[in-house]
Amino acid sequence: MELNEYKNLPKIITGIPGPKSKLLLQKQKRYETQSVVYPDAFPIAIKSADGSVIEDVDGNRFIDWVAGISVLNLGYGNIVRDAVTKQIENIWHALEIPTETRINFLEELNDSFPAAMRNYKTLFGISGADACEAAINIAHAVHSGNGSTIAFEGAYHGIAGGIISATAGEKYKRSSYSKGFNILRVPYPYSMWYPYSVNDIIDMIRKVMTDPEAGYNKPDSIIVEPIQGEGGYIVPPQGFLKAIREICNEFNLTMIVDEVQTGLGRTGKMWAFEHENIIPDIVCVSKSIGGGIPVSLVYYRDDYDLQLPKSFHIGTYRANPLALAAGVEILKTLPNYLERVRRDGEELKRNFKSINSDLIADVRGLGFMIGIELTEDNKPVSANKMVELKHSLLSKGLIMHTCGHWGNVFRYIGALNIPDELNQKGLEIFTTTIMEGVK
Ligand SMILES: Cc1ncc(COP(=O)(O)O)c(C=O)c1O
Repeated sequence: MELNEYKNLPKIITGIPGPKSKLLLQKQKRYETQSVVYPDAFPIAIKSADGSVIEDVDGNRFIDWVAGISVLNLGYGNIVRDAVTKQIENIWHALEIPTETRINFLEELNDSFPAAMRNYKTLFGISGADACEAAINIAHAVHSGNGSTIAFEGAYHGIAGGIISATAGEKYKRSSYSKGFNILRVPYPYSMWYPYSVNDIIDMIRKVMTDPEAGYNKPDSIIVEPIQGEGGYIVPPQGFLKAIREICNEFNLTMIVDEVQTGLGRTGKMWAFEHENIIPDIVCVSKSIGGGIPVSLVYYRDDYDLQLPKSFHIGTYRANPLALAAGVEILKTLPNYLERVRRDGEELKRNFKSINSDLIADVRGLGFMIGIELTEDNKPVSANKMVELKHSLLSKGLIMHTCGHWGNVFRYIGALNIPDELNQKGLEIFTTTIMEGVK
């Protein structure tokens, strides 16, 4: 898209949904499960997308502040289009047999991590859930398989697991501990609503690890999001990840960092854990690593790798060559945007904070991962009102999503290369909508 075209965006020429969108939405309802959620959140039917602009089948053009929930960190751009087109001329399914693309990808991935992690190994998956499941399986495997995992309140690591119980072979079953993992929950630091400090949380973990009357299967690992995504774009205080690292060292726990949403430049560093200079034992990666072509991976200590049996956590579709071809280019290109994301992320936060509305109770975030939490009478804004606000934004041409414990957090997830004009226009629409409330 030519830069000067951004002046005319967004472009809304029908009511939302427009007539053609309505028809496709109805047909979707006819054939597909009613349990889908995004068509309710954004009632349009999509024709195409370019950069950070989405066009519906009625010719309306929207500003995209969702980026496929951090899947399109470089937007719907030629970087992915060209890489996939080139790759499809050669091969688009290769099991685990190496291709040049696969090796290029592994090398680029390796380079993207801090020097202390360059000897780590990669195990591919398909989705974020798949990667998180593999990560916990690895932790259990290296700790002999009887442990539990500490996960946080408000955490989101995906919806999968359990399907292994329908598979018969012992050689597969021995590689999965996910017959419902044994999970022990502790609070995530969320000071807006709950009083637990980092020290309180670490004390809870220490108690579980040392009290013979705690009553839990002893944990062997902790899985943590550097910033909670679906939980509400909650940024823990600086020092949180370091404290988790230290308690993991103290009790020989495996530290699993889930970078599925925070990774790949989203927070202004390639990996969000780099904000705290810690070295995780396992990192879960998905979403933007394939630019929209499904792929995921776990990146983990090489001494762990020696303990994994053959056919550990395997699957037909892992590491699709199209996704890896996109990934190579994404990994090469993302570093160019990190400084911009750090700088403009702070500016965006200032702009959101300056909106003069009683609804806005908190603005927080790092880089282009910004949450705006709304309350009314000291309570979370109701789910219905949030949906109305979201639809109101959409009808003005801004696609923006929500998250949080009560669904009352708007989140800014623009592509890292979104043009300034689209951030500016989006801010104007967001400001007017929040100031007007729902009419
Ligand atoms: C932090 C985090 N982990 C895991 C997942 C699960 O990823 P997927 O939906 O690809 O299974 C998500 C999805 O949003 C996520 O945000």
